[in-house]
Amino acid sequence: MIKPHGAETLTPLYVSDDAQRAELTKEADQLPSVLLTSGAAASAVMLASGYFTPLTGYMNITEATNVANDMKLPNGLFWPVPIMNIVPDDQITDAVKNADRIALRDPNVDGNPPLAIMKVSVIETLTPEQKQLIIEKTFGTTDSEHPGVPAFADVGDNVLSGSIEVLNYSYFPEDFPDTFRTAVEIRDDIAARGWETVVAFQTRNPMHRAHEGLCKIAQEAVNADGILIHMLLGKLKPGDIPAAVRDACIRTMVEHYFPKNTVSITGYGFDMLYAGPREALLHAVFRQNCGASHFIVGRDHAGAGDFYGPFDAQKIFDTIPEDALEIGIFRGNFTVWSKKRNEIVMMSDSPHDADDYFSISGTKLREMLAAGEPPPPEIARPEVAEILMAYYQSEVN
Ligand code: ADX
Repeated sequence: MIKPHGAETLTPLYVSDDAQRAELTKEADQLPSVLLTSGAAASAVMLASGYFTPLTGYMNITEATNVANDMKLPNGLFWPVPIMNIVPDDQITDAVKNADRIALRDPNVDGNPPLAIMKVSVIETLTPEQKQLIIEKTFGTTDSEHPGVPAFADVGDNVLSGSIEVLNYSYFPEDFPDTFRTAVEIRDDIAARGWETVVAFQTRNPMHRAHEGLCKIAQEAVNADGILIHMLLGKLKPGDIPAAVRDACIRTMVEHYFPKNTVSITGYGFDMLYAGPREALLHAVFRQNCGASHFIVGRDHAGAGDFYGPFDAQKIFDTIPEDALEIGIFRGNFTVWSKKRNEIVMMSDSPHDADDYFSISGTKLREMLAAGEPPPPEIARPEVAEILMAYYQSEVN
């Protein structure tokens, strides 16, 4: 199986020994603590799960600016997105300033219990220039209308860096028991299935026909033994469809329209950044970590609005060193409904006139649903449309 990124084996930061975890959880209650942002808590879950192998915790300012500028850590390791713990001034109490170890509390669980213990290397303050640079390089913009920028820009300037030991996986195992999986679990599952070539698919949507078609086209192109549908389970921008609804849609679609035992449906606990090209690279890193040999990058991958060109997230893979990643990238062109062939095709494979196509997008699907219009079978499978219509009806009522 493909090796993890920059390591021989995964380095999950979850404390898996029960006794040790119980002891650390007890200790965490006594330590000075800070309340994490949702984004930093999600990063802890990713670190815990092995997806961010070989990182050992949150980056300091030098590491984060190196990553922002050059997509490399000071030790030379390829890494495309700063993984930081930034908190506002009111969290930096004297007790926190003087502590070697602090507890990191979870903003997404009632009572804000400890999620991790951090061995604090240094507490630094971002200058406005450093903050601007990190945002600009990561998102390609500092526009506050960008759905990911405020989550970075408005959280304060205090950067806490250091290694962490993670005590739980936040709300993900309880809310998504059948779907939330760690990178360790996914590697084990791929091995147990005997799959060698695995194509991973990132999604934050209920899968419409273009998504389904893209997965099938990619599977055929790379001759994959299996498809890993790997959905985001964390926070999204307003208007996106909640994970539980997406999960139900995807399971229904796979059951009806994919051959048995060719798809593994899983999810990961991270908040969407909407960082387009840089996020596509991060997506590729953590799909390599969960054992996929290939990763699909289609049209406007991890984008939002008009912030990125339709294929910017593919082009960025041409700019990184050849040995940065081992995972292969399947580049998907516009996936559309062909009226001539009566099926989903990739535009680049199937040249015919513009009138012969019917384009499909998550935005279009959400607009139809919000207007109470049932999406036609060219856009969504009927079984999926039914679940989505019921969700939108319940939202209206
Ligand atoms: S994303 O933010 O997770 O990328 P989404 O769930 O819509 O959003 O997309 C999942 C994957 O499908 C991405 O690789 C995206 O580029 C691709 N994709 C979505 N719609 C299309 C389409 N109509 N044509 C080609 N690729 C698409």
